[in-house]
Amino acid sequence: MNKFVSAKNMIDKAKAGKYAVAHFNINNLEWTRSILEVAQETKSSVILGVSEGAIKYMGGFNTVVSMTLALLNDLNITIPVALHLDHGQSVDSCKKALDAGFSSVMFDGSHLDFNENIKGTKEVVTYAKKKNASVEAEAGTIGGEEDGVIGSGEIASEEDCKSLAALGIDFLAAGINNIHGKYPKNWDGLNFDVLKNLSVASNKPMVLHGGSGIPKDQVKKAINLGISKINVNTELQEVFAAVIEKYVTEGKLNEYKGFDPRKIFKPGMEAIKLKAKELLTEFGSLGKS
Ligand code: 13P
Repeated sequence: MNKFVSAKNMIDKAKAGKYAVAHFNINNLEWTRSILEVAQETKSSVILGVSEGAIKYMGGFNTVVSMTLALLNDLNITIPVALHLDHGQSVDSCKKALDAGFSSVMFDGSHLDFNENIKGTKEVVTYAKKKNASVEAEAGTIGGEEDGVIGSGEIASEEDCKSLAALGIDFLAAGINNIHGKYPKNWDGLNFDVLKNLSVASNKPMVLHGGSGIPKDQVKKAINLGISKINVNTELQEVFAAVIEKYVTEGKLNEYKGFDPRKIFKPGMEAIKLKAKELLTEFGSLGKS
């Protein structure tokens, strides 16, 4: 039987090879299947990221693990795949994910007092290590809103990154002027000086949240400065929604059996695969497994 793997090895390899592993957020079965298929077709290691909101939407931790694991096996997926809790808001949430079978978790203590962030991260690291699972921590905050989690976007400090890295985490997310969701027209861009300093200070692979819609040259530069995992959600949601809109406005719902959900979602799944392949290429992780 095929199993999920910790994200540590794939991300360490990416750091050494100067590319970034794609973390694609999943929202349902169609999403998961599309991502797994494109990753397998292109022989690229991949991380399935699941937010607490998406877990709730799909039914719970066990549903997510059972569904994704069954797809891994039914679709004969042989490339390394990590199942990762995205923005775990509490120690309890991370433990529930790990107990259910997630192979990687993010403890996002950015909304807490820093001492509490340290305490929670430490507890999650101890718990995760017993299960050979990887841990992502967060320093500073990432701007924007994701599944009701609102961050004002606070640039991380070198001291905080060092303290979190010392707890034995595997990779680190840090606020470098990145934002979840769409970037506003007047966005200043990523703060590369900060990224460079934090990457050196932490000596850990760095994670770029809010990976949707960042100009290609900035993505490339960020990877060169230590970004080894890039999280994408909005961009795939946008391409999915756009083709469904087209399906509806072209009157396809009224064609023979056009109301069948399998017909409605088919172009959406194709759009996800196309965009995911484009991003794997951009991140340099196409064919890296
Ligand atoms: P986007 O929705 O902006 O792509 O961000 C995704 C993300 O960072 C998930 O953690």
